[in-house]
Amino acid sequence: MTPKDIHNLSADEWDELNFPRPEGNDFDKVVERAISRRGFLGGVLAFGSGAAVMGAGMLKGSTAMAQPASRFPFTPIAAQTDGTIHVAEGYSWKTVVRWGDALFSDAEGAFDPANGVALEHADRVMGENTDGMELFNVDGREIFVVNSEYVNPKVNLPHTEDGMPKSLDDVRTLQSFQGVTVMELAQGDDGWNVVIDSPYNRRIHHNTPMTFSGPAAGHDLLKTEADPTGMESLGTFNNCGSGRTPWGTYLTCEENFNGYFGAVSEVSADSMVMDGFRRYGVSTKVDAGRYNYHGFDPRFDVATNPNEPHRAGYIVEIDPANPDSTPIKHTALGRFKHENAAYGIAADGRVVVYMGDDERGEFMYRWVSNDVYVPGEDTSTLLVDGTLSVAVFEDDMSGRWVPLTPGTTGMDQAMISIFTRMAASKVGATTMDRPEWIAVHPNASEAYCCLTNNSRRGVLNDDGTVRTNAGGDPMTVNAVNPRDTNRYGQIVRWRPEGGDHGSDGFAWDLYVMAGNPTVAEGAQAGSANINAGNLFNSPDGMVIDSTGLIWIQTDGNDSNEGDFAGMGNNQMLAGDPVTGRIERFLTGPNGCEVTGLCWSTDRRTMFIGIQHPGDNGGNWPDGEGSLPRSAVVAVTRDDGGLVG
Ligand code: FEO
Ligand code: CA
Ligand code: CA
Repeated sequence: MTPKDIHNLSADEWDELNFPRPEGNDFDKVVERAISRRGFLGGVLAFGSGAAVMGAGMLKGSTAMAQPASRFPFTPIAAQTDGTIHVAEGYSWKTVVRWGDALFSDAEGAFDPANGVALEHADRVMGENTDGMELFNVDGREIFVVNSEYVNPKVNLPHTEDGMPKSLDDVRTLQSFQGVTVMELAQGDDGWNVVIDSPYNRRIHHNTPMTFSGPAAGHDLLKTEADPTGMESLGTFNNCGSGRTPWGTYLTCEENFNGYFGAVSEVSADSMVMDGFRRYGVSTKVDAGRYNYHGFDPRFDVATNPNEPHRAGYIVEIDPANPDSTPIKHTALGRFKHENAAYGIAADGRVVVYMGDDERGEFMYRWVSNDVYVPGEDTSTLLVDGTLSVAVFEDDMSGRWVPLTPGTTGMDQAMISIFTRMAASKVGATTMDRPEWIAVHPNASEAYCCLTNNSRRGVLNDDGTVRTNAGGDPMTVNAVNPRDTNRYGQIVRWRPEGGDHGSDGFAWDLYVMAGNPTVAEGAQAGSANINAGNLFNSPDGMVIDSTGLIWIQTDGNDSNEGDFAGMGNNQMLAGDPVTGRIERFLTGPNGCEVTGLCWSTDRRTMFIGIQHPGDNGGNWPDGEGSLPRSAVVAVTRDDGGLVG
């Protein structure tokens, strides 16, 4: 990796810099890899309706872009490299809300194009780095909830040279820009706008009080000097993807929480805690770390508060209809780098939540409640009492969910909730290529997960052993993660046995392997549904709309060069689950990632997020003379029709 400003490193790159993964064990990697690749190719051909079968008309060099795409309600667009958004012809986009836009009248005008937003207003405006989002219709009002995943310190603290906080006020400013924003939206002649001062408007950030539920609530490892009960937490962190429950609440997913912690002096904690820091990438180095919260706010100094990191990394439930409600951190759903939370329902009415742990070689999980969901009845146990399982993918294209219980792991239920990664390692979970968003098909018994990339898959150490995840589980090439140094990513699909998301068995295939047939052959060219007209890398955000189209958002290399030639900026595509065909709908400004997607109640507006648009030096959306601003945009059809 060429030297980069630490603020332009992805969380993945930052982790790798600070926690190079340990060396692996003694598998014979070369032989295993060869066998695995044969298994994958044979499997895809045998599976039927997926990528390989539809591929006949979609081989490289085909002119898919020029062909009518009847399943797709749009004509695909070409890759783009400029600094703005492009959408398919007949559609338009408009900014709805940007970082720094006021939620309350006392913060109107708070954003200064050169200086950003001062601490006084930092928690009265839309947060930074928009990510997962959901819209709730509450008594006929459109209540929009959106995550603010992390900060762009050089943009958010422009008075500092290096973007590093210089005072507790700087830290508080950054803390206030992140978390979750709840806001009412309304549509007028000029499109969608925030309803300033709506009673629903609310900011939830790194210092907002919340409570714990589930097996770890009140556990000694969650107790701190400020919270001797281990029941009350301050803040939610690195809110990445989202989810929603059928009872109308929002789920925000704590991902790279480790990056907020550091140490001001040497750390001495017991070995279990130190092992946990290593597995989760919590830094004990005495330096400024990624954000230097710990330099000014002792809560983030693990030398002083070694239990504080145990209080992050959860699924957090927020009631958008009640601005006075206290968010709940549901420890039963496990502690890891949660990407999103995709809701499904078992045949008998139990609640299912699929979740990915986005780190190289980490795992995919499924929650199944004990109780069934009955509309209008008590739902308070549905994310508290149940079974958390982890996925094992076999090379014969079968798979199973293995329950994480005291019996299978030798750990008690609270420890399983706090050190979920270690529990999953004990049952032989399959190391994955960074599970990002999971999407459950609303009309078919199947679900999909974006496996964004994994630069260390199948890579050998100097002694010939294969690289591992932080727990020592080998990242050997396998059928579901079939390429070493996986640069492009893939999307896995699974179909639960009996069409029941509550079943422990499933069959799987790869819906797509991204790749570049214009510069490579074989596995690096991608699956047959990749062609010169729909090139992309690093699938990340994903939602399946009510018509069954799979909307795929990317967060990858947008250099448009070399391995990535012809891919252009990060983008959003739509995929047909039946034919495997994939077409490009939207491209974002250079430097951004496209992330987060939901619809207005009437489905005539699609809301999407543009995150970190300034990463390559751009100043979208306000243009010359302004700091770049992450933003939510509304995409509508010019004829007023349904969008997706
Ligand atoms: Fe926040 Fe894995 O993306
Ligand atoms: Ca993501
Ligand atoms: Ca990503």
